[in-house]
Order: sequence, then C-alpha cells, then structure tokens
Amino acid sequence: MKNSNDKTMWGGRFSDDPDAFMVEFGASIEVDITLLDADVAGSIAWVKALEKAGILTKSELEEIIGGLETVQNDIRSELADGTFLFDKSLEDIHMTVESRLTKLIGDTGAKLHTGRSRNDQVALDERLYLLSALPNLAAQVTAVQKSILQKAKSHVDDVVPSYTHLQQALPVRLGHYLMAWFWMLERDKGRILDARKRADSLPLGAGAVAGSGFPVDRKFIAETLGFSSVSENSIDTVSDRDSLIETLTSVSMLMMHLSRISEDLIIWSSAEFGFSIMPDAYSTGSSMMPQKKNPDSLELVRGKTGRVYGDLVTLLTIMKGLSFSYCKDMQEDKEPLFDALLNAEGCLRIVKGVIDGVRFKTGKMKSSFDDSVFATDVADYLTAKGLPFRQAHEVAGKLVRWSQENDTAFRDIPFEIFNDHSSLFAGDVYKLFDLLASTDRRSLEGGTGRKALLEQLEKADSIIGME
Ligand code: ARG
Repeated sequence: MKNSNDKTMWGGRFSDDPDAFMVEFGASIEVDITLLDADVAGSIAWVKALEKAGILTKSELEEIIGGLETVQNDIRSELADGTFLFDKSLEDIHMTVESRLTKLIGDTGAKLHTGRSRNDQVALDERLYLLSALPNLAAQVTAVQKSILQKAKSHVDDVVPSYTHLQQALPVRLGHYLMAWFWMLERDKGRILDARKRADSLPLGAGAVAGSGFPVDRKFIAETLGFSSVSENSIDTVSDRDSLIETLTSVSMLMMHLSRISEDLIIWSSAEFGFSIMPDAYSTGSSMMPQKKNPDSLELVRGKTGRVYGDLVTLLTIMKGLSFSYCKDMQEDKEPLFDALLNAEGCLRIVKGVIDGVRFKTGKMKSSFDDSVFATDVADYLTAKGLPFRQAHEVAGKLVRWSQENDTAFRDIPFEIFNDHSSLFAGDVYKLFDLLASTDRRSLEGGTGRKALLEQLEKADSIIGME
C-alpha cells in the first residue's frame, strides 16, 4: 500500500510503494550531482522557450528562474559545507532540482517539466557538460605540451639514443625525442575537440522519444545554451550516447600516450639507464630500503590508463544491443564518463609536474652510446659513393661484427680494416663518428638534425601560440 510520503513523480499510476532497496538501487544522485549546473542551465532555457511559446506567463517564468537559481546556490553551498542530503527517493539530479524548486516556489514549480522528459533532459545535461569539459581537458593537454616544448628547447644540442625494440637505434637530439610527445598530444587534443563537435547539437525537445508535445522553439533553446545545431531525430536523440563514447575513446587514446611518456621516464630514471632524475615532489621512498626513490606518480598514470580503458569498455558494453530508444541501462553512463575525465585531468597534471621538474643527465645519455649506432651512417656513406644500399648495408654489418669480435669501437677500427671491407672507404670515414654530426645528416623535414629540429620547434610554437 502507498503511504503519504511517496516522493516519486509518477505516484498516480501506482498503488504500492516502491521497495526500499529498489529506491536505493535505482538512484543516481550521488553520481549525477556533477550535472547540477548543466541541469539548471537547461531548465532555465527550457522555461524561457515555454514562455516564448505562450505556455508560461512572464511572471511564472521569472518565478521559476529565480527559484532555480536559489536551488542551485543552495545545493552548491550544501555540497561545499557537506550538508547536502543525497535523498535517494528523489532518484536523480533532475528530480532533485525539480522537487526542491516546487518546495521553494509552490505550484508554479510543478510547471517546469511541461513538455519535457528526463530522457531528453539527461541527454541535454550530458552534452552541455561535455561542451565545457572537453575544451577544459584540451587546455590541460596544451599545458603539458608547453612544458614539453620548453624542455625540448633547452635540449636542442644534447644527444640521446633513440630506440626501436628498446635496442639502441640512431643518435637523436634530446629535443627531438621530447617533441615526439608533443605531436602525439596535439593529435589527442584534436580528437578531444572533435568529440565536442558532435556533442554540439541540442537534444532538448526530443521529449521522451517522439518529440515534445508543445511547440517550443528548439533553435532558440540551442542559441540560449550555446549549441550550434538542434538534433534531427527524437528517437536517435534519446538513444544516443555516442558523444560520451567518443569522449572516452579520445581520453583512452590520450591516456595510452601518457602511459608511454610515463614508461620512458620510468625507464630513464632507473640506475641502469640513469638518463634522468625524477623530481622529489613526484617520487616516493621506500619504508624499508632507504636508498629507494620510486617514480610512483608515473606508475599511477600507467595504471590509471587501464582504468580509463575500463571506463570506455564499460560504456560500450552498456550500450551494446540496447533496443531503441532510451533504456534505464543508460543511467550507468555517467560514472565511467566522470571517472575517465577526472583521472585524465589528474594524470595530465602529474605528467606536467614531472616534465617541468625532471632533470636530464645529458652526459650519461652521451656516454651510453654504443659506437655501432654509426653503422647506418657507414652504410649511407658507402651508398653515397655509389654502392647499392643492400651491399652497403652488408659491409656495415660485417664491420659491426668485426668491431664486436675484436672489441673495438667503430672510431678505433684501423683504416686497413675498413679498406679490406670496401675500397670505397677513404680517410673521411672517421668524420662519421660524431653524434651531433650524425643527427645533422638527418635534416630533412621531420628529422632530428639541428635545422629540422629548430623548424619543428618553431612550428610547435606557432601552434601553441595560436590557441
Ligand atoms: N537518471 C536517468 C538517467 O540518467 C534520467 C533519465 C530517466 N528516464 C527514465 N525514463 N527513467 O538516465
């Protein structure tokens, strides 16, 4: 039997109260409270449209708007001082705001939901949230890029081994190595802002599924809220969570990249590499081993990458095979979204802090080279003198073997030995064995040579400067 405390908005249809645990189970207020500002902004735009369509009077409009603003401020301050009551019987943010409004201003408040459904309302709130969350995230990516760019500029003339298969490959300028991170983040930012483009279409007015029963001006609402278009199909609109999934996809890609930056910096800080010193502020010690300095911050970034992938897979799985249109399964969409954004923001902050504070041991980088990194230069040298590249490659390979069997660095191989391997060698071969000179032989666009690197830095500067 129903008791008089029934707080549902659909009480008329039911003769029994909801099961107490069902009320708790069905509530999402603890998660969707994050949408408070979007929800209130959406409601204000909605009542303005209702008034414009002659459904609300001017004074009702003013009363509702004033009431919504009060509710918003009250909830904000209750959240700030920890007194906000997460009343699960009010289920979600939409019903919480509406019920508090009605409590505050009386019957006029009960007109707020005219012609609207929580199905189009929740879609609106989520998209509004993304419209500002995505540029904020992109701005944080830019902040990390700036730190990378600054570091790269101060290491134009230092060399570090580049790796493939984690085996020394070719000498590169440290600035060039660091800039690899810059460009992948630039693409991440592009994907994040791309996700925003498709979120930028107004869902409100789709109603429960078939479109609102009131002739509200959707274009007016879109303009009021800053959307550049209105959605085309009400069924699609209330069914769609693409923009959340696209956000999670782009955030997952970003995290994958952050995890790779982290991994490099973790390896570099090991005693075996000794290429970098982690800032104390982002490291931890060991409770047992006094000598330890662990790169926990970056390990957590690597770990949280798995968590964010989980968020993406969670939402993809929730949406898989759902019948059209809205299904309550979709209420589970917010937790993975907020979790991914929160963690990505935290990780960007950490990575920026580490990059700003890390010190590179450029002497150790330089002394870690195995002279055989010049083998490619030797092959290119012979190729330039007319030997077909495959043969030149073989000669250089044999010289690597000779140098290893005789425990002799390339630069110390006697000239007769070079000559025995190919008569094309001349005394100038020894000029090859200089790390920076080697990088400068790769000065085409995108290469590691000084000139190319300076051009790259300039391009990066202008991109960052334009934002
Ligand atoms: N809290 C719900 C959600 O997040 C709002 C939409 C509810 N719609 C409904 N028909 N029950 O998905």
